[in-house]
Amino acid sequence: MKILGIESSHDDTSISLVENLDVIIHLKISQVDIHKKYGGTIPEIASREHYNNFYILLEELKKQFDLNDLDYISYTEEPGFIGALQMGKLFAHSLSKTLKKPLIPINHLDGHIYSVLLDNENKITYPAIALIASGGHTNLYLLNSKEDKKIIGQTIDDAVGEVFDKVSRILFNVFPGGPYIDQIFDSKFNNAQMYKLNDAKLKNPFDFSFSGYKTQIFNMSKNENIDKELLACSFQKQVIDFIISKTKLAIEKFNPKTIILSGGVSANKYLRQEFLKLHKNALIPKLEYATDNGAMIAAAAFEKLKNKN
Ligand code: KG4
Ligand code: ZN
Repeated sequence: MKILGIESSHDDTSISLVENLDVIIHLKISQVDIHKKYGGTIPEIASREHYNNFYILLEELKKQFDLNDLDYISYTEEPGFIGALQMGKLFAHSLSKTLKKPLIPINHLDGHIYSVLLDNENKITYPAIALIASGGHTNLYLLNSKEDKKIIGQTIDDAVGEVFDKVSRILFNVFPGGPYIDQIFDSKFNNAQMYKLNDAKLKNPFDFSFSGYKTQIFNMSKNENIDKELLACSFQKQVIDFIISKTKLAIEKFNPKTIILSGGVSANKYLRQEFLKLHKNALIPKLEYATDNGAMIAAAAFEKLKNKN
């Protein structure tokens, strides 16, 4: 089954062709360089860029594949920036009308969950625990089956990717912060030299809170003697350990057969390493499918269709 996946919810424009969870064509234009100078994504600019990028990607796609051979067209319906989503929806609807192929609207977060199935032999056995860690979300789910998805914990303030971006802006004026801090951590982490940061205490043990780290870092960064790179390492270690501890708690309580990590922050090396230690069937996406992409949207569409058949 050949499914086109279209993603435009945030600042990545992506179209992928996926056949039974194997990625055949993967096209993506990241807008990071455009939004960098504003220190974050500007929704209005993102929408305009998606409009231009879809034409570029469509031309490239047509060179590699005859669109008449498609079976389905899937696109991100929600959540995301309204204008950016609208661009993807219009693009998908135009293709669907022209090619006379059925449309499958997909929830972006389902896309992240099923991204772990792309290009590998991974299998989800239920019940499963899924952690989505991205720029817009930090959600912990209990999946009793494909149709029965319950949220058991979520952030009460910033999303984890958002706080990586904010801390990076405070310390280095660099955006996006996740990959940048990840890189610093890789070269400079030294457990003996870490600064102490405090975690939030929350009523629901599966909930998250990240904005307190941002405030602590902001205050500490005023001290001229602080080593900013070591502070960034301390932040990454503390935040990831916090997320891992919540996932551990959920594993103890729900005894899942599979655990899933996804979302842009799942590209983080230390998080990937620690997550894989938690369970014998711990699934993480291949790096190219961790941040937003069209292939994960097609993967979710494939799983949705499998349910019906
Ligand atoms: O899932 P995603 O591509 O977009 C949203 O749906 O939000 O996630 C983007 C987020 C950004 O906040 C970015 O800083 C973060 O993922 N990110 C990372 C890494 N790569 C991307 N965070 C930590 N470590 C990384 N290596
Ligand atoms: Zn995302």
